[in-house]
Amino acid sequence: MIRKDIRALAAYHVPDSTGMLKLDAMENPFTLPDDLREKWASILSQVEINRYPDADMVNLRGLIAEQEGLQADQVLLGNGSDEIIQMLLMACDAGVCVTPTPTFVMYEMISRWLKRSVAPVPLNDDFSLDADKFLEVCSRENAAIAFLACPNNPTGNLWSEETIRHIAKDFKGLVVIDEAYAPFSARTHTSLIAPNVLVLRTFSKLGWAGLRLGYLLGDATVIADLNKVRMPYNINSLTQASAQFFLQHSEVFENQAQIICEQRTRLQQALSKHPNIEVFPSQANFILIRVHDADAVFEGLKQRNILIKNMHGQGGLLSHCVRITVGSKDENDALLAALEEILI
Ligand SMILES: Cc1ncc(COP(=O)(O)O)c(C=O)c1O
Repeated sequence: MIRKDIRALAAYHVPDSTGMLKLDAMENPFTLPDDLREKWASILSQVEINRYPDADMVNLRGLIAEQEGLQADQVLLGNGSDEIIQMLLMACDAGVCVTPTPTFVMYEMISRWLKRSVAPVPLNDDFSLDADKFLEVCSRENAAIAFLACPNNPTGNLWSEETIRHIAKDFKGLVVIDEAYAPFSARTHTSLIAPNVLVLRTFSKLGWAGLRLGYLLGDATVIADLNKVRMPYNINSLTQASAQFFLQHSEVFENQAQIICEQRTRLQQALSKHPNIEVFPSQANFILIRVHDADAVFEGLKQRNILIKNMHGQGGLLSHCVRITVGSKDENDALLAALEEILI
């Protein structure tokens, strides 16, 4: 009835976070300002939910394109960027998917669902990526598609511009530059867009995780082809109306991202002072740290009602690593105080 390899898979696990301080999922800690919330509620109350959503979303795509200096036909929208990863893996040529490892787990998970093999290319010990090694694997495997998370999750670092350029130029399959953490990063890569090079973004980390909206930027012909495997009406009316409203107030979210970046620096500095913590550089809204006993730190924080992500189970370069989302000042204070107690 159900494919054997699917039955053997573990489902994507989301831990229960009821009553916890949530520093596990790279969400924006700030709620909407009251005046914006009121206007938003009034806009939502006008949405005709008895009708199907706008299927082409020309206005919303136009707003996003304008922000990026592109045309509306260069934008594809997805129910979260996860859905776009799925569309890419469904539509691209048969063949291997190449990813650095460790990286965002959904590239491999969705490839498996679609019976596509994955060739992982290990990162160096300092989490840097060797472009020649990556390209060698692409060529050896005759690969069809490669994902580069820039900055990378869960390591948080941003590979050098030279590395990304080299891979984008020399790999002839689809190159997907996943910029989920662009709002917190020093560099983006839209200038590299080419018929085989696409840039993937999401609004999840900027503060709209609950809306589920991601977008892909690319060559208009490729976007038109990918659009053929998009579920009709994949972006619901409430998300469309919300996104159009929020994009007209983007400065609110940009300011929040700025505060998160300041908090990231503060958290990095405070964590670095601790002799039992190794802190890795981050260009994202989370920080990866290595401790002596990741399970004990994870459990100790959990007992204090703080939820982070324990990466130790993945082994290898992530041994004894935990990933901590940057929170508000108060949340970060609570985290630091709890770590102080656990790590004495
Ligand atoms: C690198 C990367 N890409 C994509 C996503 C998926 O984001 P969403 O589906 O919420 O848009 C994530 C989420 O953590 C991520 O880390």
